[in-house]
Amino acid sequence: MQEIVDRFAGPDRGAEIARTLLLPYLNHAATMLASGYATRDDIDAAMRFGCGYPIGPLALIDALGPDVVVSGLEKLHAETGDPLHQPAPVLGELSAAGESDDAAEPTMRHEIETVGVVGTGTMAAGIVEVFAKAGVDVVFVGRSQEKAEGVIATITKNIDKAIAKDKLDEAGKEAVLGRLTAATSREALADVDIVVEAIAEDMDVKLELFTDLDRIVKPGAILATTTSSLSIAELAGATSRPADVVGIHFFNPAPVMKLVEVVSAPTTDPEVAETAKALSSLVGKHPVSCTDRAGFIVNALLFPYLNDAVKLHEAGDDSLEEIDTAMKEAKLPMGPFELLDVVGNDVSLAIEQTLVGAFGHTGWEPAPTLVRLVEEGKLGRKTGEGFHTYR
Ligand code: CAA
Repeated sequence: MQEIVDRFAGPDRGAEIARTLLLPYLNHAATMLASGYATRDDIDAAMRFGCGYPIGPLALIDALGPDVVVSGLEKLHAETGDPLHQPAPVLGELSAAGESDDAAEPTMRHEIETVGVVGTGTMAAGIVEVFAKAGVDVVFVGRSQEKAEGVIATITKNIDKAIAKDKLDEAGKEAVLGRLTAATSREALADVDIVVEAIAEDMDVKLELFTDLDRIVKPGAILATTTSSLSIAELAGATSRPADVVGIHFFNPAPVMKLVEVVSAPTTDPEVAETAKALSSLVGKHPVSCTDRAGFIVNALLFPYLNDAVKLHEAGDDSLEEIDTAMKEAKLPMGPFELLDVVGNDVSLAIEQTLVGAFGHTGWEPAPTLVRLVEEGKLGRKTGEGFHTYR
């Protein structure tokens, strides 16, 4: 941790870049805590386990000293005039604010033996892998046999890598693959105890799915969505059982990132949310709790920072590589442009637009370069080109 504190105080351009990008993020985390949206522990855990940060933002403010953060923000605010750079009043009394009062281990309030997953994309495949590796039977539904087989191929490839590193053996591989049931009809989900959907981030597409799941899946089963930007309450409203609908937001890559945000809509039964947390713990994830608001914890803190990085590049002489390197020297696992390319520029743009719509901060308007890359189809790793090139 001392390394980050020292790096933050550095005299060179890299340290200046890190301060310019991290100070607004720290300010926003303090504001989130002050608003009561999530506990201090959950905000810090979210950024550590969801993005691989070595330290959560509130712990980092403590380590740097709130006075250092306040004076850094005051300097930035004097330069930009952006209200988002005005130090949050809570920074003055942070050590007393928002202690976690919910340390109790969650309990399985519903019996979960079989999990259903809908989707065959990156997130769905990762989620299927997480459950099967943890010993849970999974029924997953794709739109075609080919797509369903693609999920099995991805998981097989990941397991083979683990075998090559002596982390699993052939018997373990057979056991994991034996827990998978691929289907092309949603009717296969009739008897599962919980469904996690990870299909397109499109409200109409998801509403149609939830209406269908309500018809198909047995009463008492939990219906979960891993949406990162759509309203859980609206999805719940498409069913006759809104109390059983909850958000279980996994992070990319799902087999690696330990965080799960368990998102409760006003209608969600607390026992359903608790079961979602207990299930997440059972499969080796770290669950945090939040409510149904755009961006939840991580995306609301991460994407304004990623967008700021694009704007910094647009504004000055700092190259993509210099900014990526500066943030990695500040101990983040990836540079902002590397991460944007992993997440996908289309996904990032949609999240940023949702955040602007929900919070109304003009300072968070998507950077023109991000919009342009999406228009040009340069979506990141998945298309071979985004901010960087992968061919
Ligand atoms: N699938 C499965 N396993 C993977 C993987 C993948 N896509 N990528 C990496 N791994 C595994 C590797 O096999 C390796 O496993 P072992 O340790 O068991 O050998 C492990 O992960 C570490 O991988 P590497 O050593 O190759 O790479 P690394 O040390 O550079 O770590 C990383 C890679 C974990 C992805 C790291 O760079 C990181 O934490 N990045 C931040 C990612 C992030 O911020 N994600 C959140 C994005 S936002 C989001 O997802 C929310 C949303 O709604 C859009």
